[in-house]
Amino acid sequence: MNKNVIVTGANRGIGKAVVEAFIHNGDNVWACCRKKTEDIQKWADSISTEQNWVKIVDFDLCDETAIVNGFKAIVKEHLPIDVLVNVAGIGHLGLFQMTSFTEIRKIYEVNLFATMKMCQLAIRPMSRQKSGLIINISSTAAHEVYVGNSIYGASKAAVSAFTSSLAAELAPLGIRVNAVAPGLTDTDMSAVFEGDNPQLPLERSALGRKLTPSEIADVVVELTSDKLRMINGHVVCVNGGAK
Ligand SMILES: NC(=O)c1ccc[n+]([C@@H]2O[C@H](COP(=O)([O-])OP(=O)(O)OC[C@H]3O[C@@H](n4cnc5c(N)ncnc54)[C@H](OP(=O)(O)O)[C@@H]3O)[C@@H](O)[C@H]2O)c1
Repeated sequence: MNKNVIVTGANRGIGKAVVEAFIHNGDNVWACCRKKTEDIQKWADSISTEQNWVKIVDFDLCDETAIVNGFKAIVKEHLPIDVLVNVAGIGHLGLFQMTSFTEIRKIYEVNLFATMKMCQLAIRPMSRQKSGLIINISSTAAHEVYVGNSIYGASKAAVSAFTSSLAAELAPLGIRVNAVAPGLTDTDMSAVFEGDNPQLPLERSALGRKLTPSEIADVVVELTSDKLRMINGHVVCVNGGAK
């Protein structure tokens, strides 16, 4: 049966690939992005089919009221919300002492607090349905130690820890929560992690290359398969192997 899925960060990178993979899987998607543009609407129209729709919902994840209003627009449709995938994020590579608190707050606002807010909003309809699946996008950076990773890595470690304990809390309600932790993936964000030395992050990878956004998206969609219904509270690392 086709599922109704909410995806944040849907306009580019991993989020865009996730939307396309769900449509390919026969599902419907509310594609959440910061601002609806003509190009994003054209893309949504081009991948929608007679059976499967993509609807753009736009709101800024740094603005709690905007998130609530965006979610209200989804709930107003009175359709089951089967899956929430929190993809949107802000990458960062930089010295802790050189990073302003304004910048640190913005990173945590999107990577952690917006993820939490989206979960709180989704849990209400999902608990009424007594079913639902939340997938948060963490990162292998959550457990990597290198100079420049203290802020981003900690934000993603928080996402992973949040995921595991939230799964324990929501299991009795019939809601599962998992995370996917990608390694270096070929998107606009990968340039942030490469900094002045594109080879450096690859030295931590057994794969020796960046992953493609669709290699991450395939795992996300696979986690929604009924065959994986017993996977709960896990952080699935998708990096082709570490070195
Ligand atoms: N690429 C990697 O190597 C890698 C590795 C591990 C984990 N990840 C994680 O994977 C996820 C997707 O990353 P990506 O590589 O696809 O990055 P990306 O290409 O930079 O895309 C980031 C997405 O997040 C959205 N976003 C950021 N701030 C927002 C805000 N305030 N309101 C609404 N949307 C906002 C962006 O929207 P705009 O276009 O409007 O800015 C964009 O859609 C992130 O959580 C990232 O931390 C990435």
